[in-house]
Amino acid sequence: MSRPRVVIFTGNIRRPSRSRALAEALGAEVERRLSIELRSYDVLDAGPGLGSALVRNDLPLPAARIVDEIESANALIVGTPVYKGAYTGLFKHLIDFITPDQLAGKPVALTATGGGARHALVVEHTLRPLFGFFAALTLPTAIYASDADFTASHGGAGHALTDAGIRNRLANAADELAGLLSRQASGAEAAKRAAYAVN
Ligand SMILES: Cc1cc2nc3c(=O)[nH]c(=O)nc-3n(C[C@H](O)[C@H](O)[C@H](O)COP(=O)(O)O)c2cc1C
Repeated sequence: MSRPRVVIFTGNIRRPSRSRALAEALGAEVERRLSIELRSYDVLDAGPGLGSALVRNDLPLPAARIVDEIESANALIVGTPVYKGAYTGLFKHLIDFITPDQLAGKPVALTATGGGARHALVVEHTLRPLFGFFAALTLPTAIYASDADFTASHGGAGHALTDAGIRNRLANAADELAGLLSRQASGAEAAKRAAYAVN
């Protein structure tokens, strides 16, 4: 049986990135619970032509591949830095190329980071409605972290989470996502067995 594929997509436009580190920390928690194939992308991976594309055929190849990966994933972990109270423009611009029905019923974990606690509800007020448009199955536990919840790691080349409360929320969201993926896999197995029984 193939492993479920979980795709991380984050809206950071610089590296190292706290928002990417937070989303990848959630991916690592899910990996601790379940054997998954995990792939991680940000808007920088999409390439410089993303911003000027109007229709999907205009997308540069790296961006088109990310959209394809998002659509074909078993589950998503999305994340963004807060810019002026919302997700970044380029995060939304890539999401705009997703065919609406391709996310219907797909588990999506919501994460964001910001300079302080003031915009902590951005996950509920901007990310959840956006994925609601797609009828995606957003996880009940969404995660927000402030810059003060991270320390520099790898000699300044990365960010590590330090806050225990956020680690707890990551664990809760990982339980939820691993549970949904396990149910998806057992449903697919049952459907396969039923098909063999009929033939
Ligand atoms: C243009 C810009 C706008 C920002 N606006 C907000 C904001 O409205 N609220 C907030 O809490 N932080 C804001 N921030 C801070 C970032 O959200 C925060 O530092 C975030 O953790 C950066 O994530 P990154 O390391 O992935 O880029 C802003 C930063 C920039 C560069």
